[in-house]
Amino acid sequence: TPKYSNILIKINEEAADFYHRVLLSTNAGKRGLDYAHQRGLTEEIIDHFRIGYAPKQNNLLLTYLRGHDYQDQDLIASGLFVQAQSGELFDRFRDRLMFTLTNEGDYAVGFSGRRLSNDKTEAKYMNSPETKVFEKSNVLFHFAEAKKAARTEGHLVLYEGYMDVIAAYQAGVKSGIASMGTSLTEQQVYMLKRITKNIIINYDGDDPGVHAEERATKLFEKAGGFNLGVVVLPEKLDPDEYVKKYGVEKYRDEIKGALTPTDFYLKRLAKKYNLSNDREKLLYLDEAVREIAQLSNPVEQDLYLEKIARQQRVSLDSLKVNLVKYRRQFN
Ligand code: CTP
Ligand code: MN
Ligand code: MN
Ligand code: MN
Ligand code: MN
Repeated sequence: TPKYSNILIKINEEAADFYHRVLLSTNAGKRGLDYAHQRGLTEEIIDHFRIGYAPKQNNLLLTYLRGHDYQDQDLIASGLFVQAQSGELFDRFRDRLMFTLTNEGDYAVGFSGRRLSNDKTEAKYMNSPETKVFEKSNVLFHFAEAKKAARTEGHLVLYEGYMDVIAAYQAGVKSGIASMGTSLTEQQVYMLKRITKNIIINYDGDDPGVHAEERATKLFEKAGGFNLGVVVLPEKLDPDEYVKKYGVEKYRDEIKGALTPTDFYLKRLAKKYNLSNDREKLLYLDEAVREIAQLSNPVEQDLYLEKIARQQRVSLDSLKVNLVKYRRQFN
């Protein structure tokens, strides 16, 4: 058995095993397993991702861990329990499908629980609070496993959510990690930087997702040294929904078709203008050239200038004049 340097990690590990067993082999877990199946999760996936179920009763984990001689002060510090006014402890997570969040060594440090129902008055996901071993800003879901896969796949693919990483895994993309929402942090960027410079960003295709992709490219560019690809899925789909609707083959094509950050930016820019109107077209071209002027590689500059010259039917030479003007401003 592994040795845990920290009692809080030990408690989270015990809880991960407990939730996993409840899901797979108890009557209380049947609700969770039905939900998991309904979402297309196979036994193999449930095992690989250590998915579990927190039962409806409010003290099963508490009773279990106390029975294994854990002290209340450590249980409280683990974040897995809430304390009533009376001082009494209760399980924090109830009737939720449990995603185990692990550290770089793949040891459990916290959880995110998804509600099973459609009841929008309850948070869709509930997370462990910050503890001595869990800081959400420096955790990436599936990181320990994905960094191994990155060696063979040559890249890491960044998602918003747990189910997206899992859908990608089922599609053969095993290097998926999730920022657990759209708020990618600088710490997460530096975690990725140690593994590979090749990052594909594949957030949800809805407006918040695409907006967050733009923000993410800026964070990566600020850190520097990355080679980025950006995937924008159609119909506002998230990767999980896309795979279910169009299948794994098409999904892999989307990954292969990832845009460069400049292409991504220019496409988004073009949508903001009515390009059949000359005045707006000029504004678009001006902003586009300004963006292209910031690229350090002259071959890249040429590539994109030619592209927009062709698309907008203006001369390459005139665009170049403006490019030179903007380059002077930036240098
Ligand atoms: N998230 C969170 N708390 C919430 C909502 C979202 O922590 N209340 C995080 C989760 O990590 C979630 C991710 O943000 O996976 C993306 O959110 P969203 O796209 O809304 O959820 P999905 O991952 O698509 O979840 P599902 O498919 O289960 O509906
Ligand atoms: Mn198992
Ligand atoms: Mn989303
Ligand atoms: Mn989503
Ligand atoms: Mn989803």
